This record gives sequence, C-alpha cells and structure tokens, in this order.
Amino acid sequence: MFMQKVIAIDGPSASGKGTVAARVAAALGRAYLDSGALYRLTALHAQQQGVEWTDEAAVAALAAELPAEFSGSRVWLAGADVSEQIRSENIGMGASAVAALPAVRAALLQRQRDFLGVAGLVADGRDMGAVVFPDAELKIFLTADARVRAERRAKQLHIPCTGIEFERILSDIEARDEADRRRAAAPLRQLPDARLLDTSHLSIDESVKQVLDWYRELSEPTA
Ligand code: CDP
Ligand code: CDP
Repeated sequence: MFMQKVIAIDGPSASGKGTVAARVAAALGRAYLDSGALYRLTALHAQQQGVEWTDEAAVAALAAELPAEFSGSRVWLAGADVSEQIRSENIGMGASAVAALPAVRAALLQRQRDFLGVAGLVADGRDMGAVVFPDAELKIFLTADARVRAERRAKQLHIPCTGIEFERILSDIEARDEADRRRAAAPLRQLPDARLLDTSHLSIDESVKQVLDWYRELSEPTA
C-alpha cells in the first residue's frame, strides 16, 4: 500500500499539536507544517484588506494568492512579521470562520502539500489525515481535557488559571472546537485509522516520545 512520508497530527485547540509536531519533526530531520497558520494568515489578510470572513469568493481569492513566508517558527505576511499577531484568539476565531468555507480550503490545499519534500513531513491541523495527506504513514488524534487545554493556553499568555479571563479562554476554546466539529467542510474528528493520544496527564517530552515510539514501531520490521 502506498504511504506518504508524513506524520499527520490532528486535534482540538491548545492540545499541544504544534509543540509536539515541531519537536517530532526536529527529531526525525523532517519539515514541519503548521496548517492552522495558513488559515490564521488568511483571516488576518482578509481583515487587513477589509474583506468579511464570510465572503467565500473574496476570501478564497486572497487565500489563493496569500503573500506568506515561513522561516523556522516565524511567519511573514506581505513582508511584515506577524508571528505574534496571528496567535490572538480573535484571529483564531477568524481562522475558524474562513476554514468553514470550502473554496478557501480548496485554495490552500496544494500549498499545504508543497511542504512535503524528500525528507518527509510532520503536519498538524484538523484535516491533515483526512484530506491533505490521506496516505500518511502515521495519523494521530492529539487531544486533552478542555480545562487542561485552557490552562495551557492561559500559561502561554501569562494569565492566571482562575478568574474571569481564564473562564473566557475556556469558553472561547470550547466555542471554536464546537464550530470546527459541526461544520460540513473537513470537520474536526478522530479518523478510524488515527491513534488517540490523550495528553491530559502527559508532559511534552512524554507526548513526543509516544509519537516517536509509534513511528519506530511502524518503520522497524518485526522480528
Ligand atoms: O498547536 P496547539 O494549539 O494544539 O497547541 P500548542 O500551541 O502546541 O500548545 C499549547 C501550549 O501547551 C504550549 O505552551 C505547550 O508548551 C503546552 N503543552 C503542555 O504544557 N503539555 C503538553 N503535553 C503539550 C503542550
Ligand atoms: O492553535 P490552535 O489549535 O488553537 O489553532 P490552529 O491549529 O492554529 O487553527 C486555527 C483554526 O484554523 C482552527 O480552529 C480551525 O478552524 C482551522 N484549521 C482548519 O480548519 N484546518 C486545519 N488543518 C488547521 C486549522
């Protein structure tokens, strides 16, 4: 059976997909694709161009010509470093809105596939295993309890894990996950051929080790 040299890691917001995927990519000497960044960049680009996130044709036209560049963990839009700007929850909501539009997803499809070079790829997002790399050699659904995920996001933003601001982070995460699950186009879900990695009680190191163990199990011939 044909298998692409791709480890596809999908899952809900703030579960640790990006951190784990980037670490696994570095350990294996592979390229890394943060597919969510493309949807975030599209949302920011639309906002800057005065285009509504619901205007499917106009947003898709912008996505098809997205003036984005990636280098390491930094990302540029039309020459400006927007690495921090695209991480706001407002742009996260915008990303979720534009990601529900089939024409936008189609416009970004080839761009995501172009990240796969000879060294192989580790890709994270919502539909890496289902749509972008259906023949990935290893598919993982990486998740954690919503409250644990909200705590991780709060720590990233230097916000205490109690109080109104924390509760807002939790409800924003739950609202975005719910929208991503309910949409018709590439909904967030665990595929039958994906392995479940619940990191609620796992450190980053333990999560990375589990992915690498699964990868080695697949790539080493059994005795
Ligand atoms: O990409 P995604 O939104 O799924 O999550 P992330 O940005 O990689 O991770 C969110 C935060 O959780 C980061 O600050 C990670 O360092 C942290 N994290 C953690 O504390 N424990 C894990 N097992 C995985 C991630
Ligand atoms: O970091 P976090 O998990 O919060 O979000 P992200 O991976 O940067 O993705 C932002 C939004 O883009 C998600 O809520 C999804 O709606 C959308 N997305 C998608 O539809 N398909 C992907 N492959 C990646 C992201």
